[in-house]
Amino acid sequence: MSKWKVGVVGLQRGRVFIDVFNAHPKTEVVAICDINEELLESVGKSLNLGDGQKFISFDDFLTKSPLDIVVIATPIEFHTEQTIKSLEAGKDVLCEQTVAYTVSDCERIVEAVKKTGRVYMMAENYIYFHYLREWKNIIDSGKLGKIVYAENEYLNPIVPLLVDEKTGKFSWRATRAPIWYCAHSIGPLLHLTGDRIVKAMGILSDFQSFPQYKEYIGFVDAEIAIFQTQKGTIIKVITSNVSPRGHLIYYSLYGTNGYLESPRKGEEGLMFIKGEMNAPIPFPCKTVDREGIEGLPEFYMIEDFLKAVESRSRPPIDVIRAMDFTVPGLIAHESALSGGKWLDVPLFEW
Ligand SMILES: NC(=O)c1ccc[n+]([C@@H]2O[C@H](COP(=O)([O-])OP(=O)(O)OC[C@H]3O[C@@H](n4cnc5c(N)ncnc54)[C@H](O)[C@@H]3O)[C@@H](O)[C@H]2O)c1
Repeated sequence: MSKWKVGVVGLQRGRVFIDVFNAHPKTEVVAICDINEELLESVGKSLNLGDGQKFISFDDFLTKSPLDIVVIATPIEFHTEQTIKSLEAGKDVLCEQTVAYTVSDCERIVEAVKKTGRVYMMAENYIYFHYLREWKNIIDSGKLGKIVYAENEYLNPIVPLLVDEKTGKFSWRATRAPIWYCAHSIGPLLHLTGDRIVKAMGILSDFQSFPQYKEYIGFVDAEIAIFQTQKGTIIKVITSNVSPRGHLIYYSLYGTNGYLESPRKGEEGLMFIKGEMNAPIPFPCKTVDREGIEGLPEFYMIEDFLKAVESRSRPPIDVIRAMDFTVPGLIAHESALSGGKWLDVPLFEW
């Protein structure tokens, strides 16, 4: 059986996709693209790719290589244009999160997917964390009762990725509002509960950690959002690029009959189910279920994507679900800029 031919654009995060698609028996990476020529050459060399397989120009990459699938792992401001061009060129698309920075770009992408009939999936890998897949079974069993409250803390201190302090050059992440990067926060919570966000409000804190960079929203101490869902759950999210807390991805879900919490330190969270236990019990929270590429969340994710490509059906994080995981953050930031008013979140439909 011939393999699906994959092209990857954006070769930093894109390296993970090169490894998983090359490890998968049904796919091979046949072309790569990046505007950084040095990086393009070094990645191309490590993969033994020839000159006709390495591209600086995205348009050449699309038109001069025999691709079935385009994987987009460039900074978010390029996602809309690269996604639409790829779909219109007849390619199926796996695009990094989040989808885009404006609701109108999101609309353009939904329209392009509907018009072309190609497969689109957003690469929100956290829902494939091993412990979240286990939580999904528990929540689906109904043992927690109705979920009334859920929370995520996404603290990711990345100051060296916001600015190169030697050259004074700011990266694309410096102008990204922290809550725009919400798919890792709300994606897993909405996936676990099968819910959608309908209202959002946001609050921006100050620039007390980096007052010298207050022109750049990425340096705000924290951005907080509160969301209301269709099923009546309240979700709270805090995001920060500068927190001294260190890297923390924390989820909790409180139901009428119990709760789940991921760890703040180490690998043990907590689970409590009324009627089954007298006190909370430790819950191991590993993100992978085995060593090696096949255990990675990204490997499970591309399996779902490839099933959709093969059967020409909609993948789990299709274009509509991708908007559910993206648009609430855009609206929460709009709310934060307007002093924290509750705003309706537009819902896209298939
Ligand atoms: N899912 C995850 O866990 C995860 C982790 C990191 C990044 N990401 C996502 O991956 C994407 C890329 O992030 P990153 O960390 O690799 O960013 P980065 O800035 O480290 O790397 C981006 C790469 O894309 C290249 N590039 C920039 N503009 C381009 C263009 N127009 N055409 C071709 N190449 C271009 C750059 O030269 C660079 O090599 C973003 O959407 C980000 O949100 C996801």
